[in-house]
Amino acid sequence: MLTKFVEAAKKSQVPEGTMMSVKVGEEEILIACVDGNYYAISNICSHQGGWLDQGELLKENCEVMCPLHDGGFDLKTGEPTSEPCKVPVATYGVRIEGDAILVGPPG
Ligand code: FES
Repeated sequence: MLTKFVEAAKKSQVPEGTMMSVKVGEEEILIACVDGNYYAISNICSHQGGWLDQGELLKENCEVMCPLHDGGFDLKTGEPTSEPCKVPVATYGVRIEGDAILVGPPG
């Protein structure tokens, strides 16, 4: 659990329509850019631990699909969007400072 905002990546590392994984402390985080907005959720699927950054970003739904069993998560809420995923993944707050993407506590 992040207790404060820390720099996780540069905007230039996450172009529109892409995603990347970063490790911040003990947290494995997925950062994605959709329609100019940045989202950060856990990079580890709640089903069986698939690495979400290895999956597919569906811009039109603001959703990431897990590479292992095609479950999906809403990037805005961390809520599962398709079976077999049933448990939400953690979300993180995102702040932009210049070219830096900061992640921190949600909300
Ligand atoms: S591990 Fe992600 S859908 Fe199964």
